[in-house]
Amino acid sequence: MNTRPIESRDVESILEIQSSSPEVAQWTASDYQRAARGEMTGWVAADEGRILGFMVARRTAGDIEILNFAVNPAARRRGIGNTLLRVALDWGAEVNAERALLEVRASNFAALHFYERRGFRVVGRRPRYYVAPIEDALLLTAEIGRAPAVSL
Ligand SMILES: CC(C)(COP(=O)(O)OP(=O)(O)OC[C@H]1O[C@@H](n2cnc3c(N)ncnc32)[C@H](O)[C@@H]1OP(=O)(O)O)[C@@H](O)C(=O)NCCC(=O)NCCS
Repeated sequence: MNTRPIESRDVESILEIQSSSPEVAQWTASDYQRAARGEMTGWVAADEGRILGFMVARRTAGDIEILNFAVNPAARRRGIGNTLLRVALDWGAEVNAERALLEVRASNFAALHFYERRGFRVVGRRPRYYVAPIEDALLLTAEIGRAPAVSL
């Protein structure tokens, strides 16, 4: 398994993973094409050419924000999410970001567990932030230098 920046040819596979991940924002192909053009920063995890997961992030002031992130359901709990998060946090360190931020559906216990084990803490709640279905968002953050090295 390796990771590399998102390319235009990855978008179809990313959309397939996204459509089997109702927890994440359902973006369009053109959103991911923007990542492939470098308007956002994104990576895929690939195994022998097969895309198994993706991560999209951006810089906001002195922070980085994780915007969308999912692993193929059949390939979860094998460390792929961990690797993609590590890549994003390493990039955050390179661009001198102080913190990583993200929002997650309040009912997304798997993601909350994933992030909390990796040094993220819940710092806020945005009531009724999500639609379809309506749900609160929890705001999580980790200090980049202090997030665990993530190889657990
Ligand atoms: C969150 C996500 C990206 C993690 O990817 P992954 O490849 O499974 O992650 P890893 O294998 O590196 O780590 C798995 C860890 O996450 C946590 N986790 C994952 N699924 C879990 C579940 N169903 N229940 C509890 N903890 C869970 C555990 O800490 C687990 O570690 P363990 O297997 O040692 O117990 C993946 O579950 C996913 O795509 N979820 C749907 C999309 C999503 O929620 N994205 C995040 C929103 S910002």
